[in-house]
Amino acid sequence: MKLRIINGPNLNLLGKREPEIYGGKSFEDYFRDLQFKYRNIELSYTQSNIEGELITQIQESDGMYDGIILNAAAYTHTSIGIGDVVAAIEIPVIEVHISNTFAREEFRHQSFISKYAKGVILGFGLQSYDLAIQSFIK
Ligand code: DQA
Repeated sequence: MKLRIINGPNLNLLGKREPEIYGGKSFEDYFRDLQFKYRNIELSYTQSNIEGELITQIQESDGMYDGIILNAAAYTHTSIGIGDVVAAIEIPVIEVHISNTFAREEFRHQSFISKYAKGVILGFGLQSYDLAIQSFIK
């Protein structure tokens, strides 16, 4: 199985950014843990701060992976373009968030992605990504 994790803006700052919300670990370190834990899954990971780049990465993943684990970060709440590309592609997309966005500011309660996602996992810290992988394993 081939899965692609795609992270959006500011998630390259994990470990340094608001650790009380997002924890003290960098995503690179966590990704290494995931690769070790799921040695028989082909896991890849990309991050971008740029909306159009994320859209291109999602388009290019279609047919190339069995699924996408997407944390579009702040673009979740603003990007019709990312919602549209998730609707457009064939492969399943699981939307993930580290924090429980519903326990935070009201503008984080809206997602332009959820309607088109296979499922949404949020609020479990970095473990949200692990739970998303497990959902693909069945
Ligand atoms: C986030 C939640 C978003 O509201 C926020 O803009 C992020 C990270 C999360 O993983 O908890 O950057 O997607």
